[in-house]
Amino acid sequence: RSAEHIRIVEVGPRDGLQNEKQSIPLQTKIELIEKLAQTGLQTIEAGSFVSPKWVPQMANSTEILEYLLKTPPKSSSPITYQFLVPNARGLDNFLTTYESFGASSKQDAYPTPPPSPGNGRGSALNTSQNLNTMSSDSGADAIGSQRGSTSTPDIELSIFTAATESFTQKNTNCSIAESLKRFEPIMSRAKSMDLKVRAYISVALGCPYEGPNVDPHKVASLAVNLLEMGADEISVADTTGMGTAPKTAELLKVLSAAGIEKGDLALHFHDTYGQALVNSVVALEHGIRTFDAAVGGLGGCPFSPGATGNVATEDLVHLIHSLGAKTGVDIEKLAEVGDWISGQLGRRNESSAGKATLAR
Ligand code: HMG
Ligand code: MG
Repeated sequence: RSAEHIRIVEVGPRDGLQNEKQSIPLQTKIELIEKLAQTGLQTIEAGSFVSPKWVPQMANSTEILEYLLKTPPKSSSPITYQFLVPNARGLDNFLTTYESFGASSKQDAYPTPPPSPGNGRGSALNTSQNLNTMSSDSGADAIGSQRGSTSTPDIELSIFTAATESFTQKNTNCSIAESLKRFEPIMSRAKSMDLKVRAYISVALGCPYEGPNVDPHKVASLAVNLLEMGADEISVADTTGMGTAPKTAELLKVLSAAGIEKGDLALHFHDTYGQALVNSVVALEHGIRTFDAAVGGLGGCPFSPGATGNVATEDLVHLIHSLGAKTGVDIEKLAEVGDWISGQLGRRNESSAGKATLAR
């Protein structure tokens, strides 16, 4: 049997750049996306239609969307680009550009996940065994073959809320309930246009304002709510990096007990405490097959003080390959992109695997 495919959502151009203080030229952002498109990544979060007063760095997301629609970057397989929208105003802004290019998004970027490995044995050491014994036939690697090449790339939207009231207020100036209300018109308009919608739940494993013990049942009930509203995927986010292996395991157990399918989940780890890879292994053990990451370990959320970047995509790819699974990503090319963008930003390259790959 061929190795199983793990889907990676590269969030570097959005989560990775949004917190940079210096203004990053549009050309650099576009070059980053173009370089990432050549690494084998199939999903790239490219920008964010949020208020420029709140997050100035994302102000030129319209130009990025326009660029992607006009001149889709070259890639060996089709790429899906995702954009954050916080409210109806953000959706309007997005649609103005999207519709002016007559774009449509009808392809299935969220394939049916492979059957659960049934890891009842509970060993933390049988990850590669689980990964290798799973069929890849219905995995994400089938996306490319299901989709023909299109003249315009697939575009998807992401909405975002959080598991605590304080974080939701700080990040989006509303309560959790109000955030869900805001999503209703976004969801119905997106659905009417065949646009897929991913939903983030922030601070699922720790909150900068309410502390490390966030109620996993709150995360689960929000996830159920968002799926019922029509979300195509839930990205459960450890915004602060406070997640640990036992907390991750507990959260996944609670999500599962709430009836949430593993195939509906992605995990989004920030690496502030250096636990992102350990937590990823726990999630893989639980059958999660989609992970968010940022090249070079870029990133952070402006409304989560002290939080550092996402898990570096190079590190995650190295981990997944070491377990005998595949990502479709060329780690050498990716390592070069991580090093290049770190240099552009005057940042240290935060990816251990990236630096080691380049030093070989
Ligand atoms: P608000 O100030 O309450 O909004 O912000 P408002 O409706 O009162 O509008 C105020 C002004 O902003 C008005 O302009 C609106 O037109 C404008 P004015 O009349 O003053 O000139 N406005 C907009 N402009 C452009 N695009 C828009 C928009 N909306 C209003 N979409 C709002 C509410 C949600 C807009 C604001 O709080 C916001 O933009 N928040 C986004 C914060 C953000 O981007 N955070 C980072 C992304 S989430 C994240 O990083 C976490 C994640 O990675 C997962 C994880 O790790 O946890 C996804
Ligand atoms: Mg994030």
